[in-house]
Amino acid sequence: MTQIIQPTEENILICSEEIKNGELVGFPTETVYGLGADAFNENAVKKIFIAKGRPQDNPLIVHISNLEEIEKVATEIPKLAYELAERYMPGPLTLVLKKNANISDVVTANGNTVGIRMPNNDIARKLIKYSNPIAAPSANVSKHISPTTAKHVLDDLNGKIKYILDGGECTCGIESTVLDLTSDIPTILRPGAVTKEMIESVLGHVKDFKGEVKVAKAPGMKYKHYSPNVDSILVATPKDAMAVYSRNKNAVILGLKDFLYKCEDANTYSLGEDAKDYMRNIYSALRYAEKKYEYIIVQRLKGNGIEESIMNRVLKATNNNMYEGE
Ligand code: TXA
Ligand code: MG
Repeated sequence: MTQIIQPTEENILICSEEIKNGELVGFPTETVYGLGADAFNENAVKKIFIAKGRPQDNPLIVHISNLEEIEKVATEIPKLAYELAERYMPGPLTLVLKKNANISDVVTANGNTVGIRMPNNDIARKLIKYSNPIAAPSANVSKHISPTTAKHVLDDLNGKIKYILDGGECTCGIESTVLDLTSDIPTILRPGAVTKEMIESVLGHVKDFKGEVKVAKAPGMKYKHYSPNVDSILVATPKDAMAVYSRNKNAVILGLKDFLYKCEDANTYSLGEDAKDYMRNIYSALRYAEKKYEYIIVQRLKGNGIEESIMNRVLKATNNNMYEGE
């Protein structure tokens, strides 16, 4: 049995005991919920891969609660890392650095680098502070949509862990930006709410990763990720949404309020009023829609910045299925 528990001081301490005993805990962050284990306990970390059904060659992010802990996890830390940390940590940014010898190969999937992130969520940081740095992937079953509420975690992992700390809805809503600082030019391996422009304002030039992936460098690059259990498609306009809608049985349209306003008489689910709302609500919306409908039509965003990061995830969810019009 898995219990969702309130994040009282007492319950956070209970969860930190659980982690120190080598068990797993579901916990909130500002991006998505994580499935955490003591980053220095190899056997505990192995349990993460089993609980999620995650391929062992996909490395985990280590979560820290303050900047001093970075040295326990990484080594040869460049000045750039501290400059970025000053601006964007705590926050939805993961830095890939050279790993410290203390960190097990199970965490890093045998690589010599490690992803490090300090979540901007008080419950998460307390849990880490009371335990140890925590290795954690998103708390979904492998290949499913990341969870943004405690209930989503329960839906995917019921019976596999004892506790899920309930921190309500995640405020950011998509997984952190992953930035590799070990390559010649800093490289974004996964876009997120900390955008390329935001990173460039600190570092100057930054590259987007576009090469072929042999080992999983970031999620979705090698493996199918983030998908709902029913077919889905991206559409650019309400007119296109209605055209696709009319051809599919039991479909739903997910979009922003002013988009849905033009989709009269269709089943719709609102993602809010702007891109930030869209980012916060999209995973919940996909999880809701896959339970109730047989076909999901999603509004495409065309701007840059966070809109591009959101589309990176939605394209994966729809398996690159994009409606090109009549
Ligand atoms: O927002 C997030 O990042 C959430 C929350 C829980 O912190 N975590 C998350 O973890 O999304 P996960 O495991 O679902 O995705 C993290 C991805 C890994 O799949 C991996 O591909 C990439 O980050 N990653 C981790 N360590 C890496 C490394 N050393 N080198 C390259 N990529 C790495
Ligand atoms: Mg994940």
